[in-house]
Amino acid sequence: MPEGDPIPLGSTPAGRGVHQPLRLRAHGPVREMLAETSWRIDHLVAPLFVTAKRPAQPHAGLPALARRGVEATARMAETLHDGGVRAVLLFGIPSTKTPTGVGAADPKGPVPAAIRAIKERLPEMTVAADVCLCEYTDHGHCGILRDGRVDNELTLPRLAAAATSYAEAGADWVAPSAMADHQVASLRASLDMAGYRSTAILAYAAKFASAFYGPFRDVADSAPSLGDRRGYQLDPRNAREALRELELDTQEGADILMVKPALPYLDVIRRARDRSHLPLAAYQVSGEYAMIKAAASRGWVEEGRAVDEALTAIRRAGADLIVSYFSTDLALGGLRGR
Ligand code: PBG
Repeated sequence: MPEGDPIPLGSTPAGRGVHQPLRLRAHGPVREMLAETSWRIDHLVAPLFVTAKRPAQPHAGLPALARRGVEATARMAETLHDGGVRAVLLFGIPSTKTPTGVGAADPKGPVPAAIRAIKERLPEMTVAADVCLCEYTDHGHCGILRDGRVDNELTLPRLAAAATSYAEAGADWVAPSAMADHQVASLRASLDMAGYRSTAILAYAAKFASAFYGPFRDVADSAPSLGDRRGYQLDPRNAREALRELELDTQEGADILMVKPALPYLDVIRRARDRSHLPLAAYQVSGEYAMIKAAASRGWVEEGRAVDEALTAIRRAGADLIVSYFSTDLALGGLRGR
């Protein structure tokens, strides 16, 4: 029956014993046969933090949020690949932060270096690079400030320059996450002009101003020093506005649309899936990862089952790809309970 049709209860004898859904739930093999949703490790994208400045730095309690140097990042990509992960998403932590975040486009920065190092070892790994200024600006905002606010027009060329330098280093996908208006169109035009027509754009189209980015900002040292991101990221109350952003990014030439965070926004993922024919990604963000890790470490939830359920729910809502820190835990075999 197509979704949305009324269930014709009145036309069948709906008596006790006629409708007995329990019949098909009783046996494990039948439950497997009838499972509507699944996820595989190759649906996952692993975020990795590449640092120029510090020595490799593990993260107490949140292993996937470790900061690694270029070579260690490439080795981690190999480990992920051995574990079945087919794509990584790189974030850079530069040695110096400046008002305009010029480091984002530095061809010698940590991200271009890591792209090259991964591609040398593993040409078949899909390498995506996050495109934003917040890790590179000294104020922590995602763009260039003018009169205390992010100036969209000043920001666009900086984002485009960063994306082009990642494409030049060999990135397969660039992923603009600054929530600047026209960022996808601006990246597409610059990439095409520089000859990178086959570099795809994974657009953070519907990115909400979320409390769940906390652990990421600690690791990337990118929390805004003044104010917050509500002047550019979406208001968590607004699903229609999110759909508008998804439409605009589609018109601007996005190859893959992304909704972020994932679990608190399953309704947005579902509505995006129902409206768009583009591949859809969802970002299970650092706070979503941290909540499961923290609860599991206290024995309050069974980690493997909680992760399986969360990833299943995100797929059920309609995501094709899931950016998830659990990629690392899964590839390293560190998840129990599945
Ligand atoms: C911005 C960016 C952020 C995340 C991904 N890209 C931080 C932010 O918007 O503050 C957060 C991801 C996460 O929490 O896992 N470059």
